[in-house]
Amino acid sequence: MSPIVLPNNALVLLVGISGAGKTTFAAAHFAAFETLSSDTCRALVADDENDQSANRAAFEVLHLILHERLRRGRFTVVDATNLHSQARQTLRGLASRWRIPVHVIVLNPGWAVCEERWRTRTDRHFERKVLQRQQDALRSTLEQLPNESYEAVTVLDSAASIAAATIVRR
Ligand code: CTP
Ligand code: MG
Repeated sequence: MSPIVLPNNALVLLVGISGAGKTTFAAAHFAAFETLSSDTCRALVADDENDQSANRAAFEVLHLILHERLRRGRFTVVDATNLHSQARQTLRGLASRWRIPVHVIVLNPGWAVCEERWRTRTDRHFERKVLQRQQDALRSTLEQLPNESYEAVTVLDSAASIAAATIVRR
């Protein structure tokens, strides 16, 4: 598989349902401060990365830091599900203000893998129907992405392709 090529000033949006491996992927491929995570921002404002009541504040914090990083031309990855077109549009808007290219990497190891992780993880406590709704949103997202304007969209649609992915920065 050819490497995913990312420019040094890119904004990278990871896309995937809970358990897809976004945070694991980010830790493997990007430096700590390069990754802005919605979970981390929820924890920063509410001491609990699962506290959905902190969503709005968490994304305000995430957008504020992202804006500052993009203004400085710092390579940045957004580790959030990014399954809603409005959320992606907001991120694209921030990038376009500074003429930053936006790259999307979809992580989709498949429903069975994500459901198994949802069942066995101890750090996530939400109902199965929430995961199913995310899976439906992923289907819509995969249809919508070609019509949104990105520099590139990479879809890793198996656990093997996610594990084998390599990234080149230039
Ligand atoms: N995991 C794994 N093998 C992988 C990737 C992930 O066993 N190749 C495990 C992780 O250790 C974690 C769970 O699967 O316990 C979910 O991975 P994570 O990277 O946290 O998934 P996210 O997409 O970040 O999930 P969330 O949206 O819930 O943060
Ligand atoms: Mg995560």
